[in-house]
Amino acid sequence: MNQYRSPAILAITLLISSFSVNASQELHRDAKGLVKQFGATLKPQLIQAMQQGGPVNAVDVCAIKAPEIARELSEQSGWNIRRVSLKNRNASAVADAWEQKVLKEFESQLAAGKPAKELERGELVDGEYRFMKAQVTTPLCLKCHGSNLAQPLHDKIKMNYPDDLALGYQAGEIRGAFSLSLKPVQP
Ligand code: HEC
Repeated sequence: MNQYRSPAILAITLLISSFSVNASQELHRDAKGLVKQFGATLKPQLIQAMQQGGPVNAVDVCAIKAPEIARELSEQSGWNIRRVSLKNRNASAVADAWEQKVLKEFESQLAAGKPAKELERGELVDGEYRFMKAQVTTPLCLKCHGSNLAQPLHDKIKMNYPDDLALGYQAGEIRGAFSLSLKPVQP
């Protein structure tokens, strides 16, 4: 009897797996779009605040606006959206085991010559679709994540983030990543 059932099971398995490939592709696209939206909302605000009041002023954009954008996008989309790092500034940005693995993988890929903007990964992990996209350090980031921070800025950051690890970066290094997850609705 098993003999007869197995082709049917195989067909079903194939159907399910091809469905999941499509579903995964769709989720991957959605996650990428959300990251794009996150960056496109945050970056101009950061640049504007830097130009208007320098980095001391712009700290609030990173500290208040970035989590706000993440929250709004999460509410609109149903995805859980946050930023993580191997050397985090905000205590809530500690990478979990999967995120740590992916961040380390991004570092090796970058070292092997993969272009920074291609550093992304999406996969099903324990029934959730998870997606990460690396954020690479640019000269702009160094004002607040580099080595020689101006004194008032240094004080403000130390006061708000006494356990800050996100200093001493160089341009081109991976500062962290956007990390998204979604529990697909069960049929
Ligand atoms: C004006 C100062 C400032 C600049 C410029 C800045 N950051 Fe930040 N960054 C911060 C602060 C403050 C936080 C903590 C935000 C919070 O509380 O969620 C932060 C947090 C982060 C985080 C979240 C993970 C963590 O460590 O808490 C990432 C990722 C990040 N920054 C990347 C960047 C990148 C990439 C750039 C350049 C494009 C940049 N930052 C420029 C001040 C800055």
